[in-house]
Amino acid sequence: MNKEIKVVDGENGLQFIEIDNSLAVARIALQGAHVDWWRPKSSKQDVLWLSSNARYQKGRSIRGGVPICWPWFGKHPTDGSFCVHGFARVIPWKLLESEQLKNGATKIVLKMLPTDEVIKQLTYSFELILTVVVGESLYLNLKTTNLSDSPFVISEGYHTYFYISDIEKIKITGLENSSYTDKIDNFNRGIEEEPIIFKNEFDRVYTNTSNDCYIEDEIFNRVITVKKSNSNSTVVWTPWQKKALAMGDMGGKDEWRRMVCLETANLLENSVVIYPKLSHSIATEYSVQEY
Ligand code: BG6
Repeated sequence: MNKEIKVVDGENGLQFIEIDNSLAVARIALQGAHVDWWRPKSSKQDVLWLSSNARYQKGRSIRGGVPICWPWFGKHPTDGSFCVHGFARVIPWKLLESEQLKNGATKIVLKMLPTDEVIKQLTYSFELILTVVVGESLYLNLKTTNLSDSPFVISEGYHTYFYISDIEKIKITGLENSSYTDKIDNFNRGIEEEPIIFKNEFDRVYTNTSNDCYIEDEIFNRVITVKKSNSNSTVVWTPWQKKALAMGDMGGKDEWRRMVCLETANLLENSVVIYPKLSHSIATEYSVQEY
């Protein structure tokens, strides 16, 4: 293995890949292939938000970083007993390969190891591979391959928590004129006319948009760019005080104010059909411009 990469044991038997190269530091939990930390060395602040009381336990998702939602986003379409946002984020993955790139970034490739319990939840067989490139930007590519003889449908997303100065002081651009489904307002639909600002709990799924998005943060003097590829949905979520307190793993009283989820996804009418022996990849890339 390259000297930039270490596999270390953490809390409760979880294992982590730690990356420290000339451009950035990052940590990836093998459970869920979950990037819970990434910081370009040129950046003054963290870019991803991680709750101070995130739970590091077998079978539980980590609150913060980049949870992977797959093969369904949100509730399972027909069986409410299956876990919300799919099982990819709570089961083991393994490190397949790593490579030190010429530009100083580190590439790692992970493969999901489906448990017997999750195989029972599906009618198809598949392979799921996540490629992560840790450098000045953070690049993620999730590739689903259909190993069955019939097509299947998935929804998916990177439920990424970004670190911000204050939820009431930032704005998100890139979704102007996109149509959305508002989960807070009975799934009613609307068109987002202006850049998004936050005054309350917010949970909207934007569909039929492949636009890159931007988190403009005038207090941190920076813009976070979220690039997308093969993604036609974007989800924007923040819980606000009451829900954050009820969740139990959102950190201290006002910690939730320092995060926003901006999620590269495919769901609702943008769910993806994958035909036998074919693959589909959804990719996203995060970078920071400070001024
Ligand atoms: C959002 C959902 O996408 O994810 C919210 O719309 C949910 O309802 C949030 O609270 C976080 O989900 P989870 O399963 O990580 O607590």
